[in-house]
Amino acid sequence: LRPLPLDLPNLPPMLPGGLPFVGHASELRSNPVAMVQRGRDMFGDIFCVRLPGTLGVVMTGHAAQEKYFRFRDDEVSQREAYQLMTPVFGKGIAYDAEPQIMKEQLGFFHGALRESRLRTYTDGFIAESEHFFGQWGQAGEVNMLEVGNEVTLYTSTRCLLGDKMRFKLSKEFSELYADLEGGINVISFFAPYLPLPAMRRRDKARVKMVELIEKIVAERRSDAHGHEDILQTLVESSYADGRKLTVDEITGLILTIMFAGHHTSGVTFSWIAVLLAQHPHIFRRLVAEQREILGDRERITYDDLQKMKLLEATIKEALRLYPPIILVMRRVLKAFEFQGKHVPEGSMIIASPAAGQRVPEIFPEPHRFDPDRFMPGREEDKRWPYGHIAFGAGRHRCMGIVFAQLQLRALWSHLLRNFEFDLLDPSYPVDYTNLIVGPRPPCRIRYRRVGKQSAGA
Ligand code: HEM
Repeated sequence: LRPLPLDLPNLPPMLPGGLPFVGHASELRSNPVAMVQRGRDMFGDIFCVRLPGTLGVVMTGHAAQEKYFRFRDDEVSQREAYQLMTPVFGKGIAYDAEPQIMKEQLGFFHGALRESRLRTYTDGFIAESEHFFGQWGQAGEVNMLEVGNEVTLYTSTRCLLGDKMRFKLSKEFSELYADLEGGINVISFFAPYLPLPAMRRRDKARVKMVELIEKIVAERRSDAHGHEDILQTLVESSYADGRKLTVDEITGLILTIMFAGHHTSGVTFSWIAVLLAQHPHIFRRLVAEQREILGDRERITYDDLQKMKLLEATIKEALRLYPPIILVMRRVLKAFEFQGKHVPEGSMIIASPAAGQRVPEIFPEPHRFDPDRFMPGREEDKRWPYGHIAFGAGRHRCMGIVFAQLQLRALWSHLLRNFEFDLLDPSYPVDYTNLIVGPRPPCRIRYRRVGKQSAGA
């Protein structure tokens, strides 16, 4: 642990409170959004918190978020901030790689996420919606958080490993994935290699995951025809110096994209259910949009999804109110000044989608669910390019925005045409105990089938 440079002149003001040794970390863990809000109310766009072994500098508001997301990789680094992911992704992969190598590795995803591939994945999203929700009965009660995580696990497996593997492998894959996830927690943030049972399970699961992917890669290398999934893109990719990816690297990158895209989409799916059940007038308008675009057609296409503007705005608004990634971090490599305050080298700068997207100067009436703020005529996100930061911004903005939007639109288009929903719990609070933040379980919702598709279709 490094000593905190608290005696430097002109530091941003320090948030009162915090405990010996851990500083504000426990508040950051129990309710980070309230903590950031408290600091913002007291000091405005920039203030300090004490984190174990480091000085945290929280930056919120449009000017601060613009400054934050415009830094170059030689000015601030994600590497140290996200080192807890190294045992999962692997040594030398993604955040653990040198910036130039990480750039090349992320570049492989550009190929995997190009439009022609997105069309193929969308066919998978549509097929999965019909298959998964086709198994629901006429009416029932579900935990929408579980539903979101399960259905997006199936869609992810299809896109990563192909439709065949979705049915063959999803059980084995999901068990290993659960063990990998279990090793990512607050402890691993500060000490990712402690010999705890959860960390051991994580490491064993990674070894097994490499074995599993190794078999599929060997098959692919002998017969590459007809595969249009992310694995195939990685199998065919090479670094700038011509070197092919190793199986360990392919597995690491599959896990990188899985961790980036699975739970984030799953919890957003479940927030949409809660918000629409709470706002039936928006639900009705969305059903009308479906009718307008599709008429009586039951099978939808990629092009139909592109036309669903109110659904797109609804997803954006759900992500504004409840972003799954509530904080992003960078280690400062070169000290800088902001609004007359000095931010020293070595400190950890923090931006908060959850708090930053509820700043009233950017989004008026910020606590109100109002998808129309993103519809033509208002487009509040276009007026404030660093206001909606659920997907980050700048050079490290999320690469899966279109993928996530298409997936959520496909799933919700199906549900809007076939079901109605009611809330069953008195409230649906935010659960800050996981790294990817969603509604607190059980998140119970009652569904009722209204469309033509019969149960078990
Ligand atoms: C980066 C959010 C879905 C791939 C990010 C970042 C955020 C984010 C906030 C930036 C992190 C930072 O600045 O430190 C989300 C949300 C999603 C989602 C809210 C769903 C609702 C996806 C999907 C994929 C994906 C589906 C892939 C198919 C990535 C990648 C990066 C990233 C590769 C790293 C980009 C870079 O560092 O250059 N995401 N994401 N994400 N996301 Fe997503």
